[in-house]
Amino acid sequence: MPWFLAVPARHAPVFLAALMSASLAYAQDKEKSGAAEARAPQAFLGALKIAATPPRLLKEDDDRALFDCRRESINGWFRRHGWFNHANDFTRVSVIADPATGRIIGYVALSAAQIERAFPPKPQQRNRPDPAPALLLGQLAVDKEIRRQGHASDLMAYELRAALRASEIVGGMGVITYPLDDNLRGFYAGWGFQDLPFDPRRAMIVRMAELRRYFG
Ligand SMILES: CC(C)(COP(=O)(O)OP(=O)(O)OC[C@H]1O[C@@H](n2cnc3c(N)ncnc32)[C@H](O)[C@@H]1OP(=O)(O)O)[C@@H](O)C(=O)NCCC(=O)NCCS
Repeated sequence: MPWFLAVPARHAPVFLAALMSASLAYAQDKEKSGAAEARAPQAFLGALKIAATPPRLLKEDDDRALFDCRRESINGWFRRHGWFNHANDFTRVSVIADPATGRIIGYVALSAAQIERAFPPKPQQRNRPDPAPALLLGQLAVDKEIRRQGHASDLMAYELRAALRASEIVGGMGVITYPLDDNLRGFYAGWGFQDLPFDPRRAMIVRMAELRRYFG
């Protein structure tokens, strides 16, 4: 099956939200704010979605210089460090590209991580290794020219599936991420990520068991 048929893309956030309370709250907020009606023009835009290649691993000769997601820290990391980190196995970087020009228009990174026992809610702190192994989803970003067309959702689904595949051979309790601002916390909550309430860096986590239930 082609990868894009297997990806739940735009409906995934809403469906997953029904599974988890934090996500449910997010969905309810959106309903209240009238976001449901706002989906009509989004659906129309979907029909005109700017094409992108399926996600694939970063290559050395990929042109990273023109990538611009309007966030300098994420642009700079990709331009200066993306290939080095990928090539040296610190981070696995996946990209989407403009099919016509090959220019990179989105990327996401996955690497190993750890969660300290003190970070989850108290009832979840018992009977687990300290720290516990996990995966880190970092730097999810798409070019400013292709926003709000579902490309980030496609990259997210691809990367969460990759994490789930990895978990078949390497233990990891979930996928964590560090949202860069509070708006983005809502975006991640729509994918089932929940706060690690005692983490000073305010990571969010979606547990591997949830991903298995959803994608497995
Ligand atoms: C965040 C980002 C990746 C989203 O990309 P995108 O392609 O516009 O996202 P999508 O079109 O797939 O949107 C998926 C959903 O998330 C919502 N969303 C997108 N960006 C959001 C944001 N900044 N805050 C809250 N919700 C957001 C969309 O409304 C959409 O919801 P809907 O389907 O219910 O309408 C993009 O804005 C970006 O690259 N930002 C700069 C880099 C960055 O900050 N990355 C995050 C690092 S933690």
